[in-house]
Amino acid sequence: MVEEIFSTIPDRYDFLNHLMSFSMDKNWRKFTVEKMRFHQSRRFLDIATGTGDLALAVARTYPDIQVTGLDFAMEMMAIGAKKVDSARLAGRIQFLQGDALQIPFHDNAVDVVAVAFGIRNMPDRKRALEEMCRVTTPGGQVMVLEMNFPRQSFWAGFYRLYLTWVMPRIAAAFTRNPGAYRYLGDSIMNFPQPAEFGRLMRDAGLKNIKQYPLTMGTIYLHVGEKRRP
Ligand SMILES: C[S@@+](CC[C@H](N)C(=O)[O-])C[C@H]1O[C@@H](n2cnc3c(N)ncnc32)[C@H](O)[C@@H]1O
Repeated sequence: MVEEIFSTIPDRYDFLNHLMSFSMDKNWRKFTVEKMRFHQSRRFLDIATGTGDLALAVARTYPDIQVTGLDFAMEMMAIGAKKVDSARLAGRIQFLQGDALQIPFHDNAVDVVAVAFGIRNMPDRKRALEEMCRVTTPGGQVMVLEMNFPRQSFWAGFYRLYLTWVMPRIAAAFTRNPGAYRYLGDSIMNFPQPAEFGRLMRDAGLKNIKQYPLTMGTIYLHVGEKRRP
């Protein structure tokens, strides 16, 4: 179902992303990229790459890093491939169709694996984290950039209204498939809180978990390190 949803919205995905995040999505990706450390294979894997914005940000920031974007929606990656061509980065970024729950990479292959706004839609998040951990070099980083619903915040009520009322209406006005955005608010409000997600990362085999709240805690960057044998 998720694959089908993302196959129907690629032409408006970037536009809506920037609109609904008030263009802050670029800053969140920039923050993520700045926390990356490449120490061995000098490879980066962007899981659920969509239209490739994180992959592009990494390739632009680190000129000697080889980047792969993985997603099961070819239609999203086709938009990404056009952006990569116009940025003249085709030699350093490749797109690959595949499932995050069965990453088509061998063990210890890449220094940094990240997923931005993708793990929320995955039915088995622990499995996704274990897969990310498996393909990371020992001492490498697994990063998750994801939305958060700050339940305790003074603004929680307003944010709930934005997610469940404003956002679906913006989507309805701008996409051919407004249904694709109907589930978005619920999926954000039901996503595990940072402490619980941190435990999941630890259970998946990661250590030194660091969690960075962004934009009043509505976004979190979670970073874990793969244990050395
Ligand atoms: C909200 S988009 C995020 C795209 C991009 N990372 C970004 O920051 O804009 C979520 C993407 O996750 C992909 N996706 C969801 N579940 C997946 C899975 N199990 N395997 C591969 N891709 C998946 C969807 O196809 C979609 O392109």
